[in-house]
Amino acid sequence: MHASHFDKRRYPVVNAATGYGEWAVSYEETVATGLDRPLLAQLVSIDWPSAGPAADLACGTGRTGAWLAARGVAPIDGVDITPAMQDQARAKGVYRALHIADVAATPLPSGRYRLCTLALADEHLATLDPVYREAARLLAPGGAFLLIGYHPFFLMNGMPTHYHRADGEAVTIESHVHLFSDHFAAGRGAGLVLDEFRECVIDEAWLATKPKWRPYLHWPVSFALLWRRRP
Ligand SMILES: C[S@@+](CC[C@H](N)C(=O)[O-])C[C@H]1O[C@@H](n2cnc3c(N)ncnc32)[C@H](O)[C@@H]1O
Repeated sequence: MHASHFDKRRYPVVNAATGYGEWAVSYEETVATGLDRPLLAQLVSIDWPSAGPAADLACGTGRTGAWLAARGVAPIDGVDITPAMQDQARAKGVYRALHIADVAATPLPSGRYRLCTLALADEHLATLDPVYREAARLLAPGGAFLLIGYHPFFLMNGMPTHYHRADGEAVTIESHVHLFSDHFAAGRGAGLVLDEFRECVIDEAWLATKPKWRPYLHWPVSFALLWRRRP
């Protein structure tokens, strides 16, 4: 489902490559770290120091890669479609290799990765099946696919992913709503098994990192699905 059905803001819409190409300069200052950090901290079924090699799909500026590297995950390979985002990932020095490619068709080798991540990018994919199939292809038997996403309720509440241009103009990045049943079907279709499922709800501690979001207190804002390839 296209997120425009629910969009209440009606900012101009650009595709992901254009949007992240423009947002790259201010992305790290403005992205809500509360979307992924609390979820990463809650996961119990990954032993981070032994979780590598890892493939970080839609690695962006390398925030996820830096978090993983700080917990001992190595080596990490990254893939993204936006060169301006990936330039910042390269500067972080935590990736073994970086590729400009679509998350659904990466140049990475099959069956070599113990961990595959996709953080805050699934809403930009029109369909989920291709990226789940690609993650399953990359994983070694027993490997984990961690998908962290912007919550579909938030998109349906009319707030698609957006950023501000240097002149202050607000712009939406084309987004799609994927229900949890869509994720379940795509994961099962790729032969994966769901191991852990968490949702992050905005509370007072969360608002300390993004006070402007107080109107969304008690809303679920993001989620984590941890899938496994069968051993
Ligand atoms: C919100 S950023 C997330 C970046 C990083 N994972 C993080 O959590 O900060 C979304 C990223 O997805 C990338 N992206 C969107 N669609 C993509 C696709 N089809 N293939 C590869 N990358 C894509 C964008 O270029 C952008 O860097």
